[in-house]
Amino acid sequence: MSLPLLSCSRNALLLFILYCLIIVFLQHTVINDVRIFPYIERIRPSRSSTQIQASAKAIRKIYDAESPKIHDLNWRVKNETRAPDGVEREMVLVNGQFPGPVIRAKKGDTLRVHVQNDLAMFNQSTSVHFHGLYQRGTNVMDGVPGVTQCGIPPGSQLTYVFDLKQSGTFWWHSHSKLQRIDGMFGGLIVYDPEETYILGRDYDEEIFIILHDHYHGVGDANLDWYLSKLSTGFEPVPDIGLLNGQGVANCSRIPKRYTCTSGAPRLTFQFKRGQRYRLRILNSSAFSEMTLSIDDHILNVIEVDSTEVEVSSAYFLSISPGQRYSVIVEADSNLDSVYMRTQMQSSCFKYRPYGYKSDFSTVVEYVSPSPTARIKQSTRWLFKNWMPPARPRSSRWNDVLPPDECIDLDVSSLKPKLSLDVPEPDVRYTISPKNMQFDRMHLAPFGFINRTSFLPAIGAPNLQVALGFVNASDTVPVPTISGRQNTAVWGGDQLVTEIPLGSVVELIINNDDEGAHPFHLHGHDFWVLRVYAETKAGIGNWRPEYVSSYVLDNPIRRDVVTIPRLGHAVIRFRADNPGIWAFHCHIAWHLASGMMMQFSVGMDKFDGSSVTDQMLEHCQIERELGAKLIRPLPGDEMRRNNQPMS
Ligand code: C2O
Ligand code: CU
Repeated sequence: MSLPLLSCSRNALLLFILYCLIIVFLQHTVINDVRIFPYIERIRPSRSSTQIQASAKAIRKIYDAESPKIHDLNWRVKNETRAPDGVEREMVLVNGQFPGPVIRAKKGDTLRVHVQNDLAMFNQSTSVHFHGLYQRGTNVMDGVPGVTQCGIPPGSQLTYVFDLKQSGTFWWHSHSKLQRIDGMFGGLIVYDPEETYILGRDYDEEIFIILHDHYHGVGDANLDWYLSKLSTGFEPVPDIGLLNGQGVANCSRIPKRYTCTSGAPRLTFQFKRGQRYRLRILNSSAFSEMTLSIDDHILNVIEVDSTEVEVSSAYFLSISPGQRYSVIVEADSNLDSVYMRTQMQSSCFKYRPYGYKSDFSTVVEYVSPSPTARIKQSTRWLFKNWMPPARPRSSRWNDVLPPDECIDLDVSSLKPKLSLDVPEPDVRYTISPKNMQFDRMHLAPFGFINRTSFLPAIGAPNLQVALGFVNASDTVPVPTISGRQNTAVWGGDQLVTEIPLGSVVELIINNDDEGAHPFHLHGHDFWVLRVYAETKAGIGNWRPEYVSSYVLDNPIRRDVVTIPRLGHAVIRFRADNPGIWAFHCHIAWHLASGMMMQFSVGMDKFDGSSVTDQMLEHCQIERELGAKLIRPLPGDEMRRNNQPMS
């Protein structure tokens, strides 16, 4: 009688040991401490998160690789259906990935990105811009249609070739239409063994975090709505926030016209106690400023848009579209799990869509808490969907709350590691970006800088105009919105400011709008000398006496600065990079409706031979396709009869 019992319990013991071994095995093979909770889906998942991360080992390999190395990347741009949060929609993806591939390379390496355009919708051309790279000497590779190139026509291919001369956290995205917010973006991380903060010495692991505002409708449909009177000038508001491309929509609150599959994937992070994590954080949003904090953990900021800074600690970050931060977080909490709170800054939206969800926080678990917690975690991991992560008992930092408006981290608290003296300006310009609605434009809200609303010229990008390859008049006639510029050189919708090579430019940006504008400069970093948010009633424009209050002692250098609503900012940069460089608001709706200008820097020193044959060919195709490439916008007939703005 006792024999079977004994063997039974022995079997049970063996099974238990086997179970434990499997658990240990699984615990150690979980990729980069990021656990994905897959879900049962009808369409292909956005198999993103594992590809977004790299283990310490993989990163060390990049540090140790023989350089320079050439990275050949083959990218196919296609329309595909995905459901990042459970709601199906059409997207524009590179190699079927959302978010797109993350490029990791070493300073000094060369990137050769072969982009094949297989988009089927609306005859769309495409492009890729590498955000944050100066492209020093390679302005032609900057990827801005109408400025440095023509769009890559459907069925065609373009190779972007350039050297990586900087290190830090960057990203890449389409600069065409609304493809960026339809999913065509990804990270770009450049390592340098000579950086200040080094893996293995200053931090042990790295986690890439992409905060994204997501729309259930496609970009074009939203733009059509925005540029109609129906919007009354309100920008389309995102439906949900995504963490590394994943979210969980509440299907019961999703309008019936969408297909929603409940049980979307859940993404959680894991910390090993005692380790130091470098979080590289990107806000890839169309519109939303994002806040991020981790309960019971301080964020030690070490990088701001690829500029390394002295460690400066913060309870939370607020990040505008296009901006990046790196923080080092010490996994030293006594709790078994805590919330990582990620939120869209809702107070900057003018309405909330039905089913809107601003909070997309997740859970950070410690891998080796108490034995019982560990068994629970392991069991949960085995049963995935059925057991959501335990509710952390941590609470939100209350010491300092994020401001209830869209504003950057305080400029005076961020000090670059490499201090550069701020030169006196050679020229000073004042610009005012503004969303304006005019009767004669059917009250469609267009984005202006001063009196010009940008529209990319078809078949005659400004760089080629400046080089004399084409005339602005060769362009396929597009109805101009503003037509203020000197149309003898540039097309009608171009505000191009010419700067002699080496000049120091001070830009005063007054924002009279009710919303913030995160402005991005191509080809350069800039010093942020002053950011002012008007708190009382009224408009906080720049005044001459403010000059004495500029931060001139090692101010932060970055490539996106948020101009607060009804406030202003002052930036300065040395225009030492020949080429034509875009300067624009990074809010997708404002950019798509024209809030962009350009600096033409030292074009007399520009080497025209860098324009590739492929590029010339694409412009030829664009001129031939002509009007077919121009998707009519709601305001079009009125733009055709439009007179210059006065
Ligand atoms: Cu991140 Cu002109 O763009
Ligand atoms: Cu804007």
